[in-house]
Amino acid sequence: MTDAKTMLDRIAAAENLGDLEAVRVSALGKAGSITALLKSLGSMDAETRAAEGPKIHALRERVTGAIADRKAALEATELERKLATEKIDLSLPAPETIAGTVHPVSQVMDELAEIFADLGFSVAEGPEIETQWYNFTALNMPENHPARAMQDTFYLEPRAPEEEPRVLRTHTSPVQIRAGESLGGPLYVIAPGRVYRSDSDATHTPMFHQVEGLVIDKAITLGHLKWTLETFLKAFFEREDVVLRMRPSYFPFTEPSAEVDVGWSMVKGRRVVGGQEGWMEVLGSGMVHPRVIANCGLDPEEWQGFAFGCGIDRLAMLKYGMEDLRAFFDGDIRWLKHYGFRALDVPTLSGSVGA
Ligand code: DAH
Repeated sequence: MTDAKTMLDRIAAAENLGDLEAVRVSALGKAGSITALLKSLGSMDAETRAAEGPKIHALRERVTGAIADRKAALEATELERKLATEKIDLSLPAPETIAGTVHPVSQVMDELAEIFADLGFSVAEGPEIETQWYNFTALNMPENHPARAMQDTFYLEPRAPEEEPRVLRTHTSPVQIRAGESLGGPLYVIAPGRVYRSDSDATHTPMFHQVEGLVIDKAITLGHLKWTLETFLKAFFEREDVVLRMRPSYFPFTEPSAEVDVGWSMVKGRRVVGGQEGWMEVLGSGMVHPRVIANCGLDPEEWQGFAFGCGIDRLAMLKYGMEDLRAFFDGDIRWLKHYGFRALDVPTLSGSVGA
């Protein structure tokens, strides 16, 4: 197949990239006809080579060019065909069969972030494997302080004999110190996350979730704490009749400290938040202890603050009506389908967070 016209006809007739490649190989491949012509140049005498050389090179150029053009044309046709047949209408609604759901704990964390963002708070994080300094000491719980025994701590094997054992954080409060150290004042943060305690029954699991709140600023009072908690709980439970009661309490990292109860009422045989038929405890709080402010690297004479800590799983149970905490962590697909949230329903304050 050395006749230029036959080759060019075959190139023009190639209907797909496979056919075209076959033509290319038969002309320009290792055993191709043009390759053979090029090889024959070596055995020609100088005169013949001077006459034939340019012709053979010109033939190769023409065929190479024709193949490239045909290839581009075939690819363009293929693209047109794909564009015509693989059209999707982006204005169509998403399919109804969504496989995964957002876990209620993640949903509540998103709701908390949304509510507190509206109050000017950002989200802070800390590690789940924590040093005893951050988990206890810096929070005014020195060694041998009875408060350390309030929490059933998981201790980790030290990595070296001289290392103090680290702990799985027993609460989100150590993020107070980390956020204070890294961000300084004024500070408005919440810190949601996993915490661990050696405890297990219908209302306790060895891993659960808390959210910490911390404000450090100037001239902060208990009034700011109460208003913030009231605003948060009303937005979270989506009811205006949420009533709070603060009871004096003790936490080493706050002074004074208060436990916060919310009023509940019976609706269809179930206790729901709102009204005042009874009280249940939902969180711990107080004015940040001056020693904790100092451990954040700030001057307690200049800065004050309030803090609170709250169980996220508990909040989810109260709002969405689950009865057994353990089911949260079983990974049962039926439970997740029932209590899970659609991934595209992102909580917004204006749309009522849990809608
Ligand atoms: N860390 C406490 C706990 O796990 C909860 C808590 C109480 C956090 C009072 C606070 C607070 O920030 O002020 O039980």
